[in-house]
Amino acid sequence: MKLDLREEVLSGYTDIFGLHYNSILACLSTYFNDSTIVELGTLYGAGTSALAYNKSNTVYTYDIVHQSKAATLFEKEDFKNVNYIIGNCIKGNWSDTRQNKTDKEIFLSSEIIFMDIDPPDGNVKGEQEDKVLNFLISNGWKGILVCDDIGTEWIDEFRDVEYSTLPIRKWWDSIDLPTFKIINKYSSPTGTGIICFDNQEVIYTPLTKDEEEHVINKFCHNPANWTYSPIQVPIDRFNDGGFEVREGHLKGVTGTWEETMLVKVEGNVGAYDNGITTYPTKLDEKGVRIVPKKIIILKTWAGELTLVDEWGQVRRIRK
Ligand SMILES: C[S@@+](CC[C@H](N)C(=O)[O-])C[C@H]1O[C@@H](n2cnc3c(N)ncnc32)[C@H](O)[C@@H]1O
Repeated sequence: MKLDLREEVLSGYTDIFGLHYNSILACLSTYFNDSTIVELGTLYGAGTSALAYNKSNTVYTYDIVHQSKAATLFEKEDFKNVNYIIGNCIKGNWSDTRQNKTDKEIFLSSEIIFMDIDPPDGNVKGEQEDKVLNFLISNGWKGILVCDDIGTEWIDEFRDVEYSTLPIRKWWDSIDLPTFKIINKYSSPTGTGIICFDNQEVIYTPLTKDEEEHVINKFCHNPANWTYSPIQVPIDRFNDGGFEVREGHLKGVTGTWEETMLVKVEGNVGAYDNGITTYPTKLDEKGVRIVPKKIIILKTWAGELTLVDEWGQVRRIRK
């Protein structure tokens, strides 16, 4: 089976899913009908929406953490084909039962699995990924495994050594099956790849030099990536709601910032007064639940980052 992910095909999905791997996922969902698709790592359901694009398929999406944003999304008529499963997609040796089927039955009956299971600190090392891979190989699965965060060399320039993508890149290179590392306008800057377990073949349009630069720029301009920055990111925030990075390797990056205050706590998340932002509560060493009172959101054309007021992640911000 030839899976065509060339530009002329993927560009048909950008109106809905953008220049993002979600366009790849939506496109792949059209290669199968009346089939099962599995997602490992739901978060807010962005990838799930793409996998659920072809309504004849049934999507099972797993996450350890329940997100009300995802649950609300899946209540919509458009996502009747989505089953939201809260649970560890690896523990339990695939024998846990969900809606009368074991995880093993769900996984092995699928045509596509999308694996995007970062640990809480975002530091993907390949341990969970390797367990899933071995489970699928040892059970003779024949589908395609789409993987996010398989690492890229250039990204390591922006990361502390402990966040290097080398371990996951080594894992990827050790896979003894046909693999396709997708580097195009849609692939994730942290690396997107497809592993074919049968006779599938992936074709795609590689990036030109300009486009590759665009991908790297996009990565640099997304404040969510600065949390891994090896040096402090000094930011000037202005009263008109703009900000600018004045020094360092991100010098010249501009965007907007806004502040929002805690309104209420629902379950394990704090809800903020802009009506959109939520932030997970954390337990301190005494087991007391901490909810940040004030949240700052940094936005650029490439992405956004929600920070608690202590600036722990972007480290140094001047008002
Ligand atoms: C990067 S996010 C997923 C993003 C999502 N696929 C999307 O397209 O927006 C990673 C998610 O994996 C979940 N996760 C990590 N390990 C997991 C596991 N063993 N079982 C289920 N979920 C897991 C985390 O809770 C987190 O929500």
